[in-house]
Amino acid sequence: MTVSSRTQVGIVGAGPAGLLLSHLLALRGIDSIVVENRSRAYCEARQRAGLLEAGTVELLRAVGLGGRMDAEGLEHGGIYLQFDGERHHLDFRDLTRGRWVTIYAQTEIVKDLIQARLAAGAMIEFEVSDTEVGELETGRPVLRYTDLAGTRHEVTCDAIAGCDGFHGICRDSMPPGLVTTAGRGYPYSWLGILATVPPSTDELIYARHEDGFALHTMRTPQVSRLYLQVPADEEIERWSDDRIWAELRHRLGVPGWDLKEGPITEKAISPMRSFVASPMRYRRLFLAGDAAHIVPPTGAKGLNMALADVTALATVLTSLLRDGQAGPADAYSDTCLKRVWRATHFSWWMTSMLHVDPHSDQFGAALQLAQLRYVISSRAAATTLAENYTGYFPLTWATLPTRGPGGGAGAGPGRAGRTARPRLRSRSAIAAR
Ligand code: FAD
Ligand code: DHB
Repeated sequence: MTVSSRTQVGIVGAGPAGLLLSHLLALRGIDSIVVENRSRAYCEARQRAGLLEAGTVELLRAVGLGGRMDAEGLEHGGIYLQFDGERHHLDFRDLTRGRWVTIYAQTEIVKDLIQARLAAGAMIEFEVSDTEVGELETGRPVLRYTDLAGTRHEVTCDAIAGCDGFHGICRDSMPPGLVTTAGRGYPYSWLGILATVPPSTDELIYARHEDGFALHTMRTPQVSRLYLQVPADEEIERWSDDRIWAELRHRLGVPGWDLKEGPITEKAISPMRSFVASPMRYRRLFLAGDAAHIVPPTGAKGLNMALADVTALATVLTSLLRDGQAGPADAYSDTCLKRVWRATHFSWWMTSMLHVDPHSDQFGAALQLAQLRYVISSRAAATTLAENYTGYFPLTWATLPTRGPGGGAGAGPGRAGRTARPRLRSRSAIAAR
């Protein structure tokens, strides 16, 4: 038996993109359903991103999702770039007239969003199977899935949002020949760990070492996150906890600075690739986030781009479904792809500058070091990095009129009354300039 129903927007995927889209549409009085093939617990525990651009933070505040982020997020005004055994600080606030970033884990954003959506009575179906999107050439696309109890559903929609990540089904459901893809593979991966130990630094350390890249980031004042460049086909079994800490000490070490070690609670290897699919729309099927584009993690753009896409998409769908205007939908793909290609270039540039390419030679290594020296010695070059890192043109949600449930939440930038955010201060411990 198939159960038939109808909604305005069918959303595939309860990652950050799908969940935020559902929240933003509700603020505009537009109904949606979210279907997700994993469990709620899995979605809430999946360790991925951790760094938010200033615009992303302002957006989340503006739409009523800033409470816990403002209380628990860690605001950072810069990063350290390390190479040739020396650590150098880049001060983003100075370089960009006050811009900053915030450490707040993707797991926490997903928890906040799921909680907010369910509290508002939204429909999120976890653990579905056999998701399909069809009737795409019509004005009434259909979302089909089987729920946890085994019942097949057919939901007639006014539009469908493919927020189903890189391995989802929506991109491949577009007509053959429509989508062009462009991309790069990288000859290395990242081994990431989560460790119960206070961070050994106040701001993130990006280290280019002749034995490979390392990154020291964090999640909370008690939890550190660290990454190591490893070979592309590396197996996690080859990395004992002791080997990981020894390699981190080796690549991150500078005189007068110690890396604090603690129990590793999670370790995994992630491949690195750049990938852009265009267009990001076919009629009433819209792609957003990792479903349309992937960047290597260096520079932390993936989550920020996913949230920027759905902010644009919520506005587009409001124009289309509430106001009957198709113009913004026609512009959706081009609008997003401008930001996507800027972030794709920045992520590729940061990755290429900081990793050791096993196929490169002394010439390649010397070029990397020349570029790093330029970034720390030229204000123009440092500003380029800082501008890209802290984020692109502002997201526009706060300036748009709201209507529907919870509409008041979008009525301003929402900074008033926010609580002070904890900051880790231990710069004196760092043997840098
Ligand atoms: P996803 O998070 O992939 O969500 C897609 C959802 O769709 C998933 O829940 C999936 O289960 C579901 N789904 C898939 N197929 C189906 C189907 N057929 N039916 C139903 N549901 C389906 N980005 C940053 O901005 N900053 C960072 O610091 C950062 N660090 C990162 C570190 C690592 C190690 C990695 C791997 C990534 C990092 N990223 C970072 C990237 C970021 O995590 C992703 O860009 C982000 O998760 C994209 O969100 P999304 O909602 O588009 O896709
Ligand atoms: C994190 C990941 C990144 O890729 C990055 O550039 C900065 C921070 C993180 O997981 O915190």
